[in-house]
Amino acid sequence: MWLGHSAVKIIAPNDKVLLIDPFLTHNPKTPENEKIQPKVDYIFLTHGHEDHVGDTLEIAKATGAKVVAMVELSGLLKSDGLPEDQAVEMNKGGSIEFDGFTVTMTHANHSTSFGGRYAGEPAGFVIGFKKDITVYHAGDTCIMPDFKLIRKLYKPDLAFLPIGGHYTMGVKEAVLASGMLKAKKTVPIHYGTWPILSGSPEEFADKATDKHTEVVVATPGEWMF
Ligand code: NI
Ligand code: MN
Repeated sequence: MWLGHSAVKIIAPNDKVLLIDPFLTHNPKTPENEKIQPKVDYIFLTHGHEDHVGDTLEIAKATGAKVVAMVELSGLLKSDGLPEDQAVEMNKGGSIEFDGFTVTMTHANHSTSFGGRYAGEPAGFVIGFKKDITVYHAGDTCIMPDFKLIRKLYKPDLAFLPIGGHYTMGVKEAVLASGMLKAKKTVPIHYGTWPILSGSPEEFADKATDKHTEVVVATPGEWMF
């Protein structure tokens, strides 16, 4: 389920609830009934910017969710009150086996900081559910050749790609990116939250849909699958 901007909620086959970049309460596109998440098992943060970390600390405190993030960002979250036993740090290229799924942190070409402090590097995530689908969330990034490597290594079934422009890839770059990734389905994100993120999902769908991928233009708060 897309929750607007870069936020994604996944319910795993074993009923674990995963949130990626839970920027919810201040997200103008998150439906009211999704702003508070009462049951969360894992939070994945692509980088430290406020529009991605969002409500992480509050959700983690309320639910006991584990927070998976870049080493330096993880350190900052701990210094801001994230309990030690809920922080899971990792770095690019590494994979961690969780209950029912495997997560790999991938490269993203962007910047990052958290509360004005150095937050390591931005990243993306590949999340592979056993005998089920593999999901790729690109985080905030520009176009990069790594999309080909991600295709080769992980063959994502479902890819979330930023298309808004200005701070990330726009439509033109995201079309090329989706062509490299060849995910069965591609969901555009990081557009429309504010007027400056002007990339059009319809234009993206027109240009990116081909024999390799079907673009799914999601409605925040509605299950896509
Ligand atoms: Ni960012
Ligand atoms: Mn962003």
